[in-house]
Amino acid sequence: MRQIWITRAGPPEVLAVKEAPDPQPKVGQVRIRVEASGINFADILGRMGLYPDLPPFPVVPGYEVAGRVDAVGEGVDPVWAGRDVFAMTRFGGYSDVVCVRTEQLYARPAGMSALEAAAIPVNYFTAWQLLVVMGSLKRSETVLVHSAGGGVGIAATQIAKHIGARVIGTASASKHAELRALGVDHLIDYRTEDFEARTREFTNGRGVELILDAVGGDSVKKGYRLLAPTGRLGMFGISAAVTSKTRNPLSMLSVLAKTPWLQFNPIALINANKGVFGVNLGHLWRELDRVREWGDRLLELWAQGVVKPKIARSFKFDEAAQAHHFIQDRGNIGKVLLVP
Ligand SMILES: NC(=O)c1ccc[n+]([C@@H]2O[C@H](COP(=O)([O-])OP(=O)(O)OC[C@H]3O[C@@H](n4cnc5c(N)ncnc54)[C@H](OP(=O)(O)O)[C@@H]3O)[C@@H](O)[C@H]2O)c1
Repeated sequence: MRQIWITRAGPPEVLAVKEAPDPQPKVGQVRIRVEASGINFADILGRMGLYPDLPPFPVVPGYEVAGRVDAVGEGVDPVWAGRDVFAMTRFGGYSDVVCVRTEQLYARPAGMSALEAAAIPVNYFTAWQLLVVMGSLKRSETVLVHSAGGGVGIAATQIAKHIGARVIGTASASKHAELRALGVDHLIDYRTEDFEARTREFTNGRGVELILDAVGGDSVKKGYRLLAPTGRLGMFGISAAVTSKTRNPLSMLSVLAKTPWLQFNPIALINANKGVFGVNLGHLWRELDRVREWGDRLLELWAQGVVKPKIARSFKFDEAAQAHHFIQDRGNIGKVLLVP
């Protein structure tokens, strides 16, 4: 098999393709010939040495793959053999052969390409947890989606519009026209405009009922202020800590310094009728039954044309460094994938 390794913490060029013998599926596992692997912002944080969950270097990152099952291990229903599938991987997804337990596996419906399927798990499960499971977004509410042009942002917009909510999105200006066409009602260029002031303008001063924030730091502080009564702030990342392509401890410290550690105290939350919650899909490995319920619902919505993964670009394994540059240069509108 061929795998993409993060050889050490550093810029995209630390990614290297290496060969190794094909793995054999263990008890309860299937082996997948991978046709597409998803890239996530967490892989970039991991590559820079900013992601504590990542096993020590050298390591093969990657949370999701799609392809076809070519071998099944002991105890696995043989019906899986030869099936088109997608799967969540606990690292190791940047590989053209992957073994996973069937709990992490989903059958790919007819008509769903491997590229589309590899774009579903992390982006859509996260968006679902934020909007539906914990955010309780309702019809005619307003949701502010940060990084609206990223994989999670586009997934969230599709689900929020299906619910009947209004979407305000922040994104680099070059993405606005396309994001408007994808359903975002109001767009803010947060790099030149104050998103707090612009959101107040769009909502006649009221604020919003839900915020999806993976930027962190100051963004969270402003977001909390922007919540209307009964509003909820969902936090799920710290992309503001990434200010260059190698680790910069000062930017991490700056984000931590701007984080409103004391604002979310119980008394303040009670008196303001506000809610604050966190999401980390990578910490739900003991809740896979629940996650499968979300996956089943999302597959129904895919069949209805609501869930429609937008692929920004796919890169060959040998171009993995370019793929990471592409995301960090803010070039993507939608999901970035690797193909063997
Ligand atoms: N907790 C979880 O379970 C979970 C799961 C998935 C994702 N996440 C988090 O959600 C965020 C978005 O993930 P994604 O996969 O949707 O992103 P993505 O598809 O990789 O998109 C990246 C986009 O984020 C924006 N961005 C914001 N700050 C940035 C920075 N400092 N450097 C480069 N780009 C930056 C850029 O768009 P603009 O320039 O247009 O803003 C960029 O194009 C990330 O922080 C990620 O870690 C968390």
